[in-house]
Amino acid sequence: MWSKQALHDLVENRLRNYRFIVVANREPYIHRWNGKEIECVQPASGMATALDPVMRACDGIWIAHGSGDADREVVDEFDHVRVPPEQPAYTLRRVWLTRDEEDGYYYGMANSGLWPLCHIAFTRPVFEPHDWETYRAVNAKFAEAVLQEAGDEQTFVFVQDYHFALLPRMLKEANPRLIIAQFWHIPWPSRETMGVFPWTKELLQGMLGNDLLGFHLRSHCQNFLDTVDRSLESRVDMERFEITVGGKSTLVRPFPIGIDFEKHQELVQSPRTAVAVRRWQEELQLNGEYLGIGIDRLDYTKGIPERLRGLDRLFELHPEYRGKLRFVQIAVPSRTEVDEYQWLSQQVEHLTAQINRRWGRGSWQPVTLLKRHYGQHAMMGLHLLSHFCVVSSLHDGLNLVAKEYVASRHDLDGVLILSRFTGASRELTDALLINPFSVEEVAEAMHQALTMPEAERRRRMQKLRAAVEENNVYRWAGKVISALLKFDFPEV
Ligand code: G6P
Repeated sequence: MWSKQALHDLVENRLRNYRFIVVANREPYIHRWNGKEIECVQPASGMATALDPVMRACDGIWIAHGSGDADREVVDEFDHVRVPPEQPAYTLRRVWLTRDEEDGYYYGMANSGLWPLCHIAFTRPVFEPHDWETYRAVNAKFAEAVLQEAGDEQTFVFVQDYHFALLPRMLKEANPRLIIAQFWHIPWPSRETMGVFPWTKELLQGMLGNDLLGFHLRSHCQNFLDTVDRSLESRVDMERFEITVGGKSTLVRPFPIGIDFEKHQELVQSPRTAVAVRRWQEELQLNGEYLGIGIDRLDYTKGIPERLRGLDRLFELHPEYRGKLRFVQIAVPSRTEVDEYQWLSQQVEHLTAQINRRWGRGSWQPVTLLKRHYGQHAMMGLHLLSHFCVVSSLHDGLNLVAKEYVASRHDLDGVLILSRFTGASRELTDALLINPFSVEEVAEAMHQALTMPEAERRRRMQKLRAAVEENNVYRWAGKVISALLKFDFPEV
C-alpha cells in the first residue's frame, strides 16, 4: 500500500540529487487581493494534492501561469515565490500571460478545442488557426521558463495535461539531456475522433518529445498508440506500449490517479466537518426527507442536465418520492468566458426551475442549485448527510468526486451512482453503474439507491472504500516517479 511516507522516502532517497520541475497551467498557490490585504489560496485540485508532497520532499520547482490578481506583488526578480507560505519548501515560478495569450491558449485551443475533442460529450470542438498559433507561442514561453530553471543540471520535467502538448518536443530539441514525462489527465479518444483535429501531426510530434507519457486508462494508451500508428511515420510496439519516431522512443503507460485517503479520513472526522453537517441541516431543513447530491464543476462533460432529467423521470414514475426526496446540486463555475459553459449554466438553471415548478408544493422545492465553490469540510458535510451521490459524466478521464464521496463515508452508508463513462468506474465496480444518456437508467438507479437494504449498502461501500484507499494519490505519484527513475540521463 502506497502512503505519504513511502512516497516521501522514494523522493528523498532517489530524487533529491536531481532537479525536479513540474509544469502545469494551474498554480498550487494563488495570491489575490482581499480588500487591502493579500491572501494566498489553494485551488481545489487533485493534481496539486498529489504533487505537493513530492515537491516538498525534493525542493522542486513548479512552473505555472500566474493567474491571481496579486501574484505579481509577491514574486522576486526571477518571478519566484517560495511555497507553501506557512512553511516554504519549494519554488513556484510564475509565467505571465497577456489577455490575448490567455484567450487563444487557455479559453481557445485548450478549452474550446482539445477539451471537447478528447471528451465524447457531443459538444463540437472549435479549431481556430489563430488559437493554435497562440497555443504554440504560449507553449514556447513555458519552454523558455523550463530551460532557464533546468540550466545545466540533471533535470526531470513532469508536464501536466492538454495545455502543453507541444512543450515536450520543444524541450527535448533544446536540451536533449532533460528526462521528460507528461500526464494527460483527460481521455484520449479513438483515432477516428482524433482524425478531425487539423494539426494532428504537430500535436503528436509534440507529445512524442516525452520519454514517458501517462494516461489514466489502458484504453486511452491504446487509443494514443493507434492514433500515432495511423498518423505518423513511426514504429508502434503494441505489446510494449512504446513508440519510436526518428530514433527517439516514448513509453506510454496507464497511471489512474487517486486522492489522499488518509488525510480525507482525518478531515471528515474533524470537528469542522461536524459543524458543516449542522450548517447543512439548518440550511436545508430536511424533515426526514431523502437527500440526493451532485457536486461538479459546471462543465458540459459532467452530465448535470442528464441527472436532473433522471430525477424528473423518477418523480414521474414513483409518486411516492414527491415531497419526500430533495436533490442538492453544487455546480462550481468554471471557464465562464467560453460560450458553451454559459449556455450550460442557463440550461441547468432552466431545468431546475422546470422541475421545481412541476413537483414543488407550496414552499417545498425538490432541487436546490448552488452555483458556487465550497470548501472541503462543507463538501464532506454534504456527503455525510446524503442517501446517494450521482456522478453522471458523459465522459471523464477519471473523476475524483466519486472517490471523495466514498472516502467520506466512513459510516459505510450512502450509495454511489456512477457513470460507466468515467475512468473511476473501472475501479469502483460496486457503485450503481449507469449510462447517463439513458434517462430511464438514471431514474432506476436513484430508485434502487433509495430502496437498497442497509446490509447491501454497507457491503458495497466497504469494497468501494478498499479500492479508493489502495489506489490513492501517493500510488499514482509513486508509480510515475518510479517509472521516470528508470531512465538514465544521456551523456553529452
Ligand atoms: C480538469 C483538467 C485540469 C484542470 C481542471 C480544472 O480536471 O484536467 O487540468 O485544472 O479540470 O479546470 P481549470 O480550467 O479551472 O484549470
